[in-house]
Amino acid sequence: MIDFNSILEKEETLDPENWEGMKQLAHTMVDDMFDYLKNLKNEKVWQKTPEETKTHLAQQLPQQGESIEKVYADFKQNILPFKKGNNHPRFWSWVQGQGTPFAMMAEMLAAGMNPNVAIGDHAAMYVDAQVIEWIKEMLNFPKSGSGILLSGGSMANNTAMLIARNAYQNQTVRKEGLKSVAQMKVYITSETHSCIQKAVEVAGLGSDALHVVKTNADFRMNVDDLKNCIAADRAKGFIPLCVVGNAGTVNTGAIDPLDEILEICARENIWFHVDGAFGALAKLVDEYKDALKAIEKADSVALDLHKWMYMPYEIGCLLVKNKGAEKNITIVGYQATITDSSGKTYKGISVEIGGRIDRYNTVKVAPEIDYEAIITFENIPEGVRKVQVLSMPFESKTVNLRNITISN
Ligand SMILES: Cc1ncc(COP(=O)(O)O)c(C=O)c1O
Repeated sequence: MIDFNSILEKEETLDPENWEGMKQLAHTMVDDMFDYLKNLKNEKVWQKTPEETKTHLAQQLPQQGESIEKVYADFKQNILPFKKGNNHPRFWSWVQGQGTPFAMMAEMLAAGMNPNVAIGDHAAMYVDAQVIEWIKEMLNFPKSGSGILLSGGSMANNTAMLIARNAYQNQTVRKEGLKSVAQMKVYITSETHSCIQKAVEVAGLGSDALHVVKTNADFRMNVDDLKNCIAADRAKGFIPLCVVGNAGTVNTGAIDPLDEILEICARENIWFHVDGAFGALAKLVDEYKDALKAIEKADSVALDLHKWMYMPYEIGCLLVKNKGAEKNITIVGYQATITDSSGKTYKGISVEIGGRIDRYNTVKVAPEIDYEAIITFENIPEGVRKVQVLSMPFESKTVNLRNITISN
């Protein structure tokens, strides 16, 4: 028989043996990271990870634990110096966010609380819901819409594709599987981010579902070709499911003619998804608010907060316009939800129940939006202008960007 008493008598704990010692080390870590971030601009953007460091970082599974002091010393010596570079102010390669000191601390607060926002009734869930409301407000997305914070643009686009698929004919595919419908088609351009192909494959539509629409010379979708593609597919008995409009392509920042695509989708009863991972937030800038206005009427929009909102990795967001009943956009049967006073639910539209991702996004985004909103929003126009400059044809331009000259 199990002796419960003796099991319960022996008290196990995850508490540190030496709280004071751990606290001192934590203070040192904070000091070190602040000094690191403060001095980053004076350092090289990137340096190669030495071979001996790579070897060091390929150790066997340790059989015994190490002291936290030793682990931290290892971090400082072997990890911190060999950074990706994206938090350096002169890092302009790829589309990668920077992070902020405040968000770094918010991550600590969130990890300390360690909430899981899927289940229960606790403050973090309401912060999560509040952040979604703010993002909707920023983009002037309908208040009746739903949203979810996810790990990034890829997950947001993936989730949107699943929702579009499930919303088709009142969840036919969700109930009966793809065997119950003809081949579905998703319209993209050659400039569309590769995560859309993943999304289409994850949704089980098969990569044959991708219909690549022509672009014009400015890399924007050619809407006449879009109309032709849709008509041709219908004639073959295919189901035009979704058009993915780019709110800023990753290659050139091109914004598809979203207004026209919106009109076509409405007329043809096709799901209109906007991939705004790169550029949806440019809607906050006067010069771009018209080009991106159609986001307000999209069926769904994916955006990233770890790009122009400068959040540390990883955080993206999906907004979905409610199409009647909330259940129409639910991906999975089981759902944990919180419901606001109007009866609207916020959860259950993701594959994830809501764990680590939501846990830290929740607390990390809120203080940034709340206290640094003005700074952040002023940075977006600045960011947009830099992208404009950097995407000019390189061979024909010499530009001055602050104290830097870029020339051919
Ligand atoms: C247009 C576009 N869509 C999707 C993504 C994928 O976003 P994430 O890297 O956050 O998954 C990116 C990333 O650069 C992008 O620029």
